[in-house]
Amino acid sequence: MVKTIRKAVLPVAGLGTRFLPATKSIPKEMLPLVDKPLIQYAIDEARDAGIQEFCLITGRGKDSLIDYFDIAYELEATLKERGKLTTLEALKPSSLTAGSLMAVRQQEPLGLGHAIWCARAFIGDDPFAIILPDDVVKSNKSCVSQLVDIYNQTGGNVIAVTEVLPEHTNRYGILDIGADDGKLVEVKGLVEKPKPELAPSNLSVIGRYILNADILTHLSKLERGAGNEIQLTDAMAKMIGNTPFHGLRYEGKRYDCGDKAGFLEAQIAFSIDRPDLGPDVKQFLKNYY
Ligand code: G1P
Repeated sequence: MVKTIRKAVLPVAGLGTRFLPATKSIPKEMLPLVDKPLIQYAIDEARDAGIQEFCLITGRGKDSLIDYFDIAYELEATLKERGKLTTLEALKPSSLTAGSLMAVRQQEPLGLGHAIWCARAFIGDDPFAIILPDDVVKSNKSCVSQLVDIYNQTGGNVIAVTEVLPEHTNRYGILDIGADDGKLVEVKGLVEKPKPELAPSNLSVIGRYILNADILTHLSKLERGAGNEIQLTDAMAKMIGNTPFHGLRYEGKRYDCGDKAGFLEAQIAFSIDRPDLGPDVKQFLKNYY
């Protein structure tokens, strides 16, 4: 019997320098994709997979992410008084069950692996999901749910993977591939951001992981890797061979919302099929090509 995945860790400590000056005084995870902040998409995706406990790894200046999930009494009272019930409804997804959200500080930007290690008390001995809110996946079934399905079958580690342009391997964690049935890939090795000429493949890790708590043993060594950071990829690589480790070519499309062009594309993708916005978006886009 595999344990149920109930916990998600969401690293949100990054400085968001690529979106300055917008991110000078608000966290990049609060930037809206159409009308919801990026962090809301990550939480919704986790909830869709049955996850009920969340841990934000935050940093200085990022407290508004925690405030966002609080109850806005005055706002709600005003909206009620004014009879704005539909608007009130829009606030619902940002309310979480009491006690289901925790936050820990990553005091120094020492890398993604270090961020996850900061959540060790929250993780305990349980398998857990990691969601990087910068990566937004548009899919029929949520990407984390797809990973949870595979985890339930294999009981091992599962990461979401997708092919990238060979010249872009230095932007991602890259897989060395074993058996491959076109959907599920056996992970034989993992390298963080290899140069194209050194990359074992062009199959990249996106920001969705289901990992066993054993990862903490490797992360606790706090060994530095690419970019002199403590890399999650390096700790994952050390788990290969002990338990099953698979990459899932998930159904859906990933948008890199940590990148300006990727974020703009996501704005179009997430608005064009909405009944309230799609017709206008299609119409005005004609003016630009
Ligand atoms: C992180 C991981 C990398 C992964 C990527 C997905 O990199 O270190 O392995 O491929 O997320 O978005 P970052 O984007 O934080 O540089």
